[in-house]
Amino acid sequence: MIKVENLYKRFGNHVVLNGVNFSVPEGTTTVVLGRSGIGKSVLLKCIVRLIEPDEGKIFINGIDVSELSIRELNELRKDIGFLFQSAALYDSMTVKENLEFPLIRHTELSEEEIDLRVKEMLRLVGLSEAIDKMPSELSGGMKKRIGLARSLILHPKIMLYDEPTTGLDPVTSKEIAKLIIQMQEKFKMTNIVVTHDMVVALSTADRILLLENGKFIFDGTPEELIKSEIEIAQKFLSTTLD
Ligand SMILES: Nc1ncnc2c1ncn2[C@@H]1O[C@H](COP(=O)(O)OP(=O)(O)OP(=O)(O)O)[C@@H](O)[C@H]1O
Ligand SMILES: [Mg+2]
Repeated sequence: MIKVENLYKRFGNHVVLNGVNFSVPEGTTTVVLGRSGIGKSVLLKCIVRLIEPDEGKIFINGIDVSELSIRELNELRKDIGFLFQSAALYDSMTVKENLEFPLIRHTELSEEEIDLRVKEMLRLVGLSEAIDKMPSELSGGMKKRIGLARSLILHPKIMLYDEPTTGLDPVTSKEIAKLIIQMQEKFKMTNIVVTHDMVVALSTADRILLLENGKFIFDGTPEELIKSEIEIAQKFLSTTLD
């Protein structure tokens, strides 16, 4: 479903991605682990061309993303949900309006259908009561959930999660991890989850990739990661003990 070949990205002299290769089979979840500043967000943004790669190819459903016109790219992006690292809600809109926005913009759904879809998503993320609130009235965890609801509202086939639990307490983080798994089961999406949260990584991943110095230095199942002797992998795993 997603295939990345020889991806390179540098900013000035700073090489961030130095020949990245991987593919994500349909209906599975791949977790990208890596230290802060290593290039995880850059990688996700390259996939949807929010950042233009220097070299390399990205295929989504066999289509070479770099060849698409802006119009075709926008069409493709409707099938891709992106949960940004900051929840990126519109501060001047209520929760309801935030959720309606992609539907009004990208679908022909009627008012009633939109209303139903908004309520369905809010129920799924457990925040039905927040429908008329403003983002400023929500806690960090609630914002993440609303962000999640909004990125899922078009029922995307691919979901890209950038640090879904950063800044959240361990209990809320676990709930978000559960939600990711629930959404995956309900909508059968293909997921990439970028995180440095090992609870999220181990509980959601079919496969884990570890990014370091511009390349993946580990590629395997959660069980294989646990057994791996790579030092950074061990350091990440030790964080689950505190
Ligand atoms: N638009 C940009 N211009 C210049 N440098 C950038 C740009 N975007 C990212 N970088 C640099 O690329 C590197 C990787 O950034 P990125 O945001 O991908 O890190 P990350 O792995 O997502 O970190 P975190 O876990 O803290 O979110 C950083 O050194 C960052 O400063
Ligand atoms: Mg990031």
